[in-house]
Amino acid sequence: MGGFCKKCLVILRGSWYDVAAFRFILLMCGGALVVAVNIDGVLGFADEHAFSAVDIQRALEKLESLDENGWVNLPLIYGAGLSDEIKKTASKICAQSEVLVVLGIGGSYLGARAAIEYIISPNYNWTQKRTPDIYFAGNNASGAYLQEVLELIGDRDFSVNVVSKSGSTIETAIALRFFKALLEMRYGMAGLKERLYVTTDEGSPLAMMAEREGYECLLMPYGVGGRYSVLTVVGLLPCAVAGIDIDEMMCGAKQELETGVQGACLYSSARQILYRNGKKIELLACFEPAFRSMGEWWKQLFGESEGKEGVGIFPAYADYTADLHSIGQYIQEGERSLMETFVSFEHTHQNPMIPGGALHRDQIAQIAGMDLHQVNQAALQAVKRAHIDGGVPVIELGLYERSAVSFGALAYFFERSCAISALISGVNPFGQPGVEAYKKNLFAILGL
Ligand code: PA5
Repeated sequence: MGGFCKKCLVILRGSWYDVAAFRFILLMCGGALVVAVNIDGVLGFADEHAFSAVDIQRALEKLESLDENGWVNLPLIYGAGLSDEIKKTASKICAQSEVLVVLGIGGSYLGARAAIEYIISPNYNWTQKRTPDIYFAGNNASGAYLQEVLELIGDRDFSVNVVSKSGSTIETAIALRFFKALLEMRYGMAGLKERLYVTTDEGSPLAMMAEREGYECLLMPYGVGGRYSVLTVVGLLPCAVAGIDIDEMMCGAKQELETGVQGACLYSSARQILYRNGKKIELLACFEPAFRSMGEWWKQLFGESEGKEGVGIFPAYADYTADLHSIGQYIQEGERSLMETFVSFEHTHQNPMIPGGALHRDQIAQIAGMDLHQVNQAALQAVKRAHIDGGVPVIELGLYERSAVSFGALAYFFERSCAISALISGVNPFGQPGVEAYKKNLFAILGL
């Protein structure tokens, strides 16, 4: 079974759907579990027998047989050679520039952004650091946005990493023209060659341009789709520039690959069972704002992989507790077509205590001295109970803390769960024919 842990598959043939035995099973998987899955908030909404009716074995076998699943074994293939190559390029960028601009859209930028915000901070550019600021462009067609990025660079030294698997995406191609022109104007042709880094598929128009014009080109591995590419050079190079330990990230992914198939099967089965029971929308929610871009990455992964042939769970993301004060009313009492998936962390490094003292004469004196992590965890329990009572099933995904290891594990967990889930529902998780319709129209309107 290729990349899947044989030990887990043996267990899969047994009572993997037996929730009571679940934690025991996880321990048997080596205790190296990175992403824990809890479906106790689902059981009131789904017949337990529905889990045994899911043909999970068939979905796993189908996944192994598909051509476009080069991402499955990425954490096993990753080694010193690739790691050194990426780190060498990252060091060159760090030495030559105060700013890196990453040009790309969809799977060619969401993963890198998600990783940097999740592992370091959504305010990465404003943190005290020795690494370059990182801006993202080429992910829309807004002139105002592009102009702002150009102005933000100012007179600082900068490098550009253009990322496009196909090498022909229009938003990215337009942005590339602006940044190539700026690089050439500021550093001349020799400087342009030194500061433009291309990430693409072998043989793409962009790869050919890199060859023709002399830019460093980092090739994407064969058979890895855009939205499954965060654990390739696509995501790893910007992360390495930001100072993230990419070896740890891949170590987390490997751990998840080797020990996490059980959890991925449970998550994907639970969401498909709930979908059949009328829960058409999955609201992923996290209580850490640093997770917001991960939510965007997750939306693309699941939306493009599952929404086909008239079926598919609609993926939405919410930032808790903030969004409980905006869409909380709908979640509690609106149309009952929602399921929720919470991501939570057991531990946090930044955990201030609520100030006490005579200065504060308000309604919350009893919780003075309590730390914010306790409050956040209490909020999760409160929301879970309220939403389940209101008719919204809740799946929980638990991680120890936000780190490079847990990012790698979670990214791999979601990729595997997404592919399994799509296959359970009978659609091919790879390819996105629907996106072509918009592209075709745009090309026609622009006369290209
Ligand atoms: O998942 C996908 O393949 C897409 O969403 C792409 O990531 C996105 O369209 C960008 O394509 P490209 O990397 O070819 O520029």
